[in-house]
Amino acid sequence: MKRIPLALPLLAVLSLIGSSPCPASPVTGDEPIVGTPCEGCEEVFNGIPDSLTSAARIAPRDYPGEPLRITGTVLRPDGTPAPGTVVYAYHTNAGGIYPEDEDSHSRHGALRGWTVANADGRYRFETIRPGGYPRSTMPQHLHMHVIEPGRCTYYIDDIVFTDDPRLAPERREQYTHGRGGSGVVTPRRDEEGTWIVERDILLGSGIPGYPDPVQGDNGGSEGTGSP
Ligand SMILES: [Fe+2]
Repeated sequence: MKRIPLALPLLAVLSLIGSSPCPASPVTGDEPIVGTPCEGCEEVFNGIPDSLTSAARIAPRDYPGEPLRITGTVLRPDGTPAPGTVVYAYHTNAGGIYPEDEDSHSRHGALRGWTVANADGRYRFETIRPGGYPRSTMPQHLHMHVIEPGRCTYYIDDIVFTDDPRLAPERREQYTHGRGGSGVVTPRRDEEGTWIVERDILLGSGIPGYPDPVQGDNGGSEGTGSP
C-alpha cells in the first residue's frame, strides 16, 4: 500500500476536534470520552506536538531495548481508511518502568508519541519493545488512544504480544476487549532484528456510546483506561 506522509498542523487537529462534542480547547483535561470514563485520558493532549506526521518515533534511536516498529491501518466502521485520525501510544522501557518525563511530567512517562493516519489510513511508530512490569504477571503492553476528527479521544485495546511468556494462550482473552479491534499481535523480526507488528484500528469498535451508522448505539464493553 502506498504511503503518503501527511503532516497535519496541530491547529488543524484542534479545529477538527472543535467540531465534535469536545470542548473548544481539547487541552483542558476535561474532554468527554465516548461512552465511558477514561482515567488519565487528558494526558493524550499533554505535550502533543505542533504538527503531526504519519510516522513518529517514541524511544530515541539509541534508547536501550529491542527495536520495535508498529504499523497499521485506521479504518472507519464501514471498513474504509480514516485519514486524519490521530493515534497516540505510550509504554514502559525495557525494564517495565514508565520513565519520568522531566518536561511534561506526564503520568504516561517519557515514552509516548503521536501520529496521524495518512491518506491510506496508515500510521507507524518506531520505538523499543516494552518490558513487563517488575514483580507482576501483566504482559508486555503498549497503551493506545485515538483522536478522531469530529470526536473526542478514547482508548483502545493495548498491544500485547503472542510470544510474551506472560501472555499464555489461556490468558489472551483477559487482555482482549475488542476496543478498536484486537491489540493481540504476533511479532516477527526483520533482517535487521527489528520487531515488526501490525495493529489495525477499527474506529468505534467496542466503544460504548459510539454511534453505529446502521444500528445506532453499539453498546460496547465498559471499562476505564489504565495508565
Ligand atoms: Fe501499563
